[in-house]
Formats: sequence, C-alpha cells, structure tokens
Amino acid sequence: MYTFKDYYHNKVKLSFDDHPFSKKPMHVWIICNYNGKWLLTRHKDRGLEFPGGKVEPGESALDAAIREVMEETGGTISEIRYLAQYFVAGKAGNVIKNVYFADIGELTEQETYYETNGPVLLHSIPDNVETNELYSFIMKDGVLIHCMKHLNI
Ligand code: GTP
Repeated sequence: MYTFKDYYHNKVKLSFDDHPFSKKPMHVWIICNYNGKWLLTRHKDRGLEFPGGKVEPGESALDAAIREVMEETGGTISEIRYLAQYFVAGKAGNVIKNVYFADIGELTEQETYYETNGPVLLHSIPDNVETNELYSFIMKDGVLIHCMKHLNI
C-alpha cells in the first residue's frame, strides 16, 4: 500500500491488491497502449489524461472502463487487465477508482468525445508531467508513477 498526497493535497491510498477498498468502485481509470504509444484524451477542462470516469448504475467497473475508453478516445480494447485500486479522501467525499491496463486494437473517429476533445497519442509521458500545465491533475500524483513502475515501464 502506498500513501501520498495528490495535486490538491488530498490523501491518496494506492494498492496493487485485488480490490482492497471496494468490490464495487464507482470510478475507473485506464492506462491505454495503442501500437506502442500511450493513448490519452484531452479533457476540455483538465487537460491531457488517460481516459476514465464514473461507473453508471447497473454497469460493472470493467464495462465502464470499456465504455469510457470508447467515448473519450474512440479506442476499442483488445486486452484489458485490472492493475490497482486507489482511494482519494476528497474534500467533497471519497473516491475509489480501479486502474486498468489496456491494449487498444482499433481507433475509430467518433462524432463526439463527450467532455473531452478526443484521442492524443504520445511516444512517452514527459518527466515534468507533475508541473506541466498541459496535463490533468489526475496525472500528477503517485498513482501514475507507481502504476508505470508496476507495469515495468
Ligand atoms: P463530475 O465528473 O462533473 O461529476 O465532477 P465531480 O467533481 O463530482 O467528479 P468526481 O466525483 O469524479 O470527483 C470528485 C473529486 O474527487 C474531484 O474533485 C477530485 O478532488 C477527486 N478525484 C476524482 N478522481 C480523482 C483522481 O483520479 N485522482 C485524484 N487525486 N483525485 C480524484
């Protein structure tokens, strides 16, 4: 278990165990790889981030992950695996999020990318992501760092 503060100084707990905080988390985040590049989305307010979002009523977290990747990037997942779960003690309440690692088989242009401007492919995530204002706060804490280390990337 790792504990650290996020960009807004909220306390975060991250674990690579199997669903340590909730069997039914309400949020998902998906680290996406497409042909050896990182597939992110450009959120209209937050900036560049891996796709993700909220699990809808009646939906499984895995189905939400598949849906969010399609909605925010147009990516069809060919393989996906659970990686970690994290807990954020937010000012307006707690958030529990599953992290997945996915391979994208196909990228198809969408009419809408919802609250994002759609897909962005990157050869690498810059070293200065924590201070780079192009990137979302979601990319700016130990979750990304530990997950990349765990993936051996
Ligand atoms: P909507 O998506 O418009 O409903 O906004 P919301 O603010 O209700 O979103 P959400 O429930 O996703 O997040 C609530 C708060 O939890 C955010 O303002 C953040 O402080 C925190 N939060 C959500 N997701 C993350 C995350 O991935 N990392 C970190 N560090 N904090 C998060």
